[in-house]
Amino acid sequence: MKLIDGKSVAAEVEQETRTRIEMLKTRGITPGLAVVLVGEDPASQAYVRNKDRTCAALGMYSRKIEMPATTTQAELMAVVADLNADPAIHGILVQSPPPKHIDERAVTEAIDPRKDVDGFHPVNVAKLVMEDLTGFVPCTPLGCQRLLTAAGIETAGAEVVVVGRSLIVGKPMAFLLMAKGKGGDATVTIAHSRTRDLAAVCRRADIVIAAIGRPKCLGAEHIRDGAVVIDVGINRVADPTTKSGYRLVGDVDFETVAEKCKAITPVPGGVGPMTIAMLMGNTVTACERLTA
Ligand code: GUN
Repeated sequence: MKLIDGKSVAAEVEQETRTRIEMLKTRGITPGLAVVLVGEDPASQAYVRNKDRTCAALGMYSRKIEMPATTTQAELMAVVADLNADPAIHGILVQSPPPKHIDERAVTEAIDPRKDVDGFHPVNVAKLVMEDLTGFVPCTPLGCQRLLTAAGIETAGAEVVVVGRSLIVGKPMAFLLMAKGKGGDATVTIAHSRTRDLAAVCRRADIVIAAIGRPKCLGAEHIRDGAVVIDVGINRVADPTTKSGYRLVGDVDFETVAEKCKAITPVPGGVGPMTIAMLMGNTVTACERLTA
């Protein structure tokens, strides 16, 4: 079994991004990312902190906008409108999920698609489906694809089962893997909570992408011997033996699956660092396009 090291691949991606940032700086331009967090979800706060920190480490401008859980739709829309108009900001990310009273879809549609580094705006979703490379692709699936190519795993002609149908991961992951070219050309199945005999469907796969959001949901019975497993899950489970009182586990039961698969991503240290690295890359791309 080979462990796919997300931290080292993310470092590689960040090095490429640094070079592009230096190019922009010779023209007096600094890429800027705005991250908006509404409410106090601890996991979201941790993600946002991480994004902020990585921006700083790469020499990018970052603006963290933290708003209370009582923020109204109109207040949030006004913040997005300001960021759309702000020339120092090239990428805008509103952390998901927002509090229940917020219409997330309306917020997503309000973001200028040219600054939508999450790739959630309908224009960018359509561009991904149409294989139009001028759009933005969601960071987590982009990171998973990069992990596969970096680990030398052939996707062309492979049977891939994506478990999960979310707009953030499952759906864009499937479109990326079925697109023509490097890291694509796969035969893709999307499975989800209503899939009949999930284990049998997953066992057909050369590559399983687990994006369910439930701890240890996939076990040895889901994975064929010699398959490759990409675990997107980042689940907090209570663990009184740790300082924080919790630990992070994936959607895959690592202990039982690792021994039978060809390669697997760990949690933490697999997909997580890649998501942030791809976000930085998308932000620099947005900056290059907006200042061309
Ligand atoms: N919540 C979990 N993942 C993501 C992401 O990639 N982008 C945003 N905006 N929210 C998230």
